[in-house]
Amino acid sequence: MSIPQRKKQIGSNCQGLPALQPRIESWIEELAAGRPGDLVAEFGSPLNVIHAEPFRRDVTDLRNVARSFGIDFEVYFARKANKCIRFVEEMKDLGGGVDVASLEELRQVLEIGVAAEKVICTAAVKSRELIECCVANRVTIAIDNEDELRLVKDISRTAEVALRLSGFNHEGNILPSRFGFPISEAGMLKDELDGLMVVGLHFHLDGYDPDQRISAARECLKLVGEFRELGHPVRFLDMGGGLPVCYLEYANEWEHFHAEHRKSLSSGREEITYRNHPLGLHVVEGKVYGKPNTYPFYQDRRSVDWLSYVLTHIQNDIKEMDVQLRCEPGRALLDGAGCTIARVEFVKKRADSDGDHYIGLAMNRTQCRTGSDDFLIDPIVVKSGVGKGPEIRGYLVGAYCTESELIFLRKFRFPSGIQRGDHVIIPNTAGYFMHFLESRSHQFPLAKNYLYEAKCLDAIDEEPLT
Ligand SMILES: Cc1ncc(COP(=O)(O)O)c(C=O)c1O
Repeated sequence: MSIPQRKKQIGSNCQGLPALQPRIESWIEELAAGRPGDLVAEFGSPLNVIHAEPFRRDVTDLRNVARSFGIDFEVYFARKANKCIRFVEEMKDLGGGVDVASLEELRQVLEIGVAAEKVICTAAVKSRELIECCVANRVTIAIDNEDELRLVKDISRTAEVALRLSGFNHEGNILPSRFGFPISEAGMLKDELDGLMVVGLHFHLDGYDPDQRISAARECLKLVGEFRELGHPVRFLDMGGGLPVCYLEYANEWEHFHAEHRKSLSSGREEITYRNHPLGLHVVEGKVYGKPNTYPFYQDRRSVDWLSYVLTHIQNDIKEMDVQLRCEPGRALLDGAGCTIARVEFVKKRADSDGDHYIGLAMNRTQCRTGSDDFLIDPIVVKSGVGKGPEIRGYLVGAYCTESELIFLRKFRFPSGIQRGDHVIIPNTAGYFMHFLESRSHQFPLAKNYLYEAKCLDAIDEEPLT
């Protein structure tokens, strides 16, 4: 197959084997063309760099799609996807909402001044203190289970709640989820809800399938009338997050990578992942089974097309029931809104291979990871000097003292070499990658978060808000 030429000059110092060229925002190109090492020298390695313009653009684009359908609609940013205060301030200025997942997130959002009716608490586990804080500030609580329901009633008889529902029927199967009340039992909750105000229905599904959202939304919308008859002012349907992001430029590179990976696992092709890491696949007697445990980094449908597709199917039901449709994107609003820079500390030969190298970065793998196995895009290497060294190949490794401590599991080629003092920019890390798993193991400090527009650190890096 023909692989597109590396489009941008900035990608020329590092190429995946095989390549997975990222979509790159112009501000990251500008950063890479400048002196990113100066920022790392000042704030430490790794450094997360944040730019809120793509976030603003994404919120506006989603709202415009909904407007074109004539739907009452609001976006609630799922804050768990990135901890920076800047995005919450941005959402406040845009008049949008915020979905919080912990007491600390809630306190920060309220302190920043987001209006209570623009906040929803969807924390997976809710302490008494969290519920009390929601009630005291009239923040809607998405109730997940009967213990939560009893606790809310114990705290207040006038709390505003949304019912989190799950177990939807989609194409003859029940969609599995650990969250929410089974929708088949929602009718049985009516007595228990007595005294509370159900102001909305809520779901969040795993994955990114828009058809599953359509099925779930339709089932929920059928319940709205029943709850209203009982006096509950159901005002909104919240369909959670899961709006897709396409991180890569080229579909054929994505397909080629997976084909080559399978070959390397099954038929002796030279490894392209560290020690032939299977990325979640299984090999039995030379045959490869399963699905990769990674995000689908290339997707045809962007978040606006995804929303448009969903709305095409549910717009009439939404209008008929006269509810506001809400969604809670995390990842999709952060597309292009951040990157992570790390300094190269060493380059050495790998003993158990013919010519591969280890490139040691001043960072650890929790600073660019989610629950899945790898981050499948090519990073950018910014050279510290102008000299062109000999080409080398190898793996980017991190600072935790385990054999498995790789920043990327994929092998890279460095056509002009790579050396101590160079910098690696990992593009598009704002959605989960930079914060979701970050840890202070070995007592390494957490990475700082630098605001590209304001040229200072994000408030999250200052003393914790009260
Ligand atoms: C309740 C809820 N809402 C929204 C989100 C955000 O999902 P995404 O970042 O995929 O849009 C999550 C993610 O786990 C969630 O649990």
